[in-house]
Amino acid sequence: MAPVTELTVGQVAARSGVAVSALHFYEARGLIRSHRTSGNQRRYGRDVLRRVAIIRIAQEVGITLAEIGVALESLPEGRTPTREDWNLLSTAWRDSLDQKISQLKKLRDGLTDCIGCGCMSIDKCPLRNKGDRLAGEGTGARRLLVER
Ligand code: FES
Repeated sequence: MAPVTELTVGQVAARSGVAVSALHFYEARGLIRSHRTSGNQRRYGRDVLRRVAIIRIAQEVGITLAEIGVALESLPEGRTPTREDWNLLSTAWRDSLDQKISQLKKLRDGLTDCIGCGCMSIDKCPLRNKGDRLAGEGTGARRLLVER
């Protein structure tokens, strides 16, 4: 039997693993859209599951809802986005995702080294950050920052 093409909010919640309250929040933020039946019930196109899945994963890796909203705005209104549409989104989002990947790699690899934060607390700090010279470059963990 072919999957139903229209879903209730409960069905979207059940399949996506996202609470109904969160779906309402996403809708209020314009990240997903529904239409109303004659009985004023919300109905979603099945493609909403892909949007919700991407919102969830993007949030888990630290992308803000604002950034996600900008990316999803590139998708067409009123029709199910095609693979090409998603490809356009992915291209637009690539730089920001690459930056986050670089940042995560620096964090993963930097924890065993001096991060240039000014603490001078590990044995490599005098070598990497003599006299906290990196303070001259600005605040925070200077050796973990990714060039924007
Ligand atoms: S880790 Fe903080 S200054 Fe080196």
